[in-house]
Amino acid sequence: MIPQHRWQTYPTSIFSIMSAEANSVGAVNLAQGFPDFNGPEEIIQAAAEAMKKGHNQYAPATGIKPLRDAISRRYQKAYGLKYDSDREVTVLTGATEAIWCAVQAFCGPGDEAIGIAPFYDSYPAACHAGGATLKTVALQPPHWKIDADAIERLVTKKTKMILINTPHNPTGRVLTRAEMEAIADVARKHDLIVMSDEVYEEIIFKPATHIPMASLPGMWDRTITISSTSKTFSFTGWKIGYACAPAALTEGLRRVHQFTVFCSATPLQHAMVRAFELGDDYYKQFRADYLTRRDTLLVAIRAAGFEAQTPEGTYFISAGYERLAPDVNDMDFSLDLVRKKKLATIPLSPFYLPGDSVAKDLRQVRFAFCKTPETLEKAGAILAGISPSA
Ligand SMILES: Cc1ncc(COP(=O)(O)O)c(C=O)c1O
Repeated sequence: MIPQHRWQTYPTSIFSIMSAEANSVGAVNLAQGFPDFNGPEEIIQAAAEAMKKGHNQYAPATGIKPLRDAISRRYQKAYGLKYDSDREVTVLTGATEAIWCAVQAFCGPGDEAIGIAPFYDSYPAACHAGGATLKTVALQPPHWKIDADAIERLVTKKTKMILINTPHNPTGRVLTRAEMEAIADVARKHDLIVMSDEVYEEIIFKPATHIPMASLPGMWDRTITISSTSKTFSFTGWKIGYACAPAALTEGLRRVHQFTVFCSATPLQHAMVRAFELGDDYYKQFRADYLTRRDTLLVAIRAAGFEAQTPEGTYFISAGYERLAPDVNDMDFSLDLVRKKKLATIPLSPFYLPGDSVAKDLRQVRFAFCKTPETLEKAGAILAGISPSA
């Protein structure tokens, strides 16, 4: 008899489910978090040139040197953080692989990690793969504030790592300095590593500012900072991510990386060197475009009767539908919305651990606004047909 596999508790991801639903009815897809437009043309050109020049074989496992140098320069320029590109910067296949390697390297059987729910769904999966247990502090709408005392209460002798994400998917929150300091206090006090997932660092709206965990006093030494060109340059399908961490932490992560994918796509790494040469104007325009998209969708969502905090970062809005369907759970609400109104969103409860009491009564769905004006207009037209009284 074929044995049951070890991933029974991990059914098909909610993203695949909602995208399949969206495709089957030709819905407007605000479910999955990828842009429906291209990143800068010159980056595409650079990838084509790299292929033509013959950069088509395995890259060094740690990433090509010019890209590691470019990442190191970016951290220095943006945040004054210093990383040695040879020993402290690693290119990985998306932030997803970076998260995986960070967790595998430091959280083994019997260990514990502490995360914040709602979470990016690869966090529990990475813990599961390593045999570690993920415990979470559950954030609640409408303010989604982090209670560092609740994090500290979860610390045991087995705790190895805190997993944080700022700007935060799916709530759109940017953690305040006070929240970051409070988490840092817990990490320092209990000698924990922090895996800081900062993939949305460049999608940030004033007056919010992104504070890298590694920039807080005493935190550089214990933080693995993860980011990705997926979000910053709008190439999610290229899966070029990276991790910056002191050599001792980087070494662990690299050991895992050599046996997950070994190296990331060579010509795409070359193209991303060009991406990191883009000047301040690129980032300014990038944020301005996202601000317009955010505000367009926010107006339509609120007019339809959803309640939503204004996102401070990321390209997501988490919205409450309590006024529209108070008795319907979020999975059913999302399925109804896509099947009957042809608008795909993502329910939030799958981003909590199974059985979490906060998730049970959550009446929240996530809208992604990394979309063209045409897509947002179509979504707006659908939303205009929904109203609290409908
Ligand atoms: C919070 C968060 N972390 C990591 C990732 C993965 O990024 P990548 O495409 O680089 O694997 C995502 C993608 O949606 C995300 O939202």
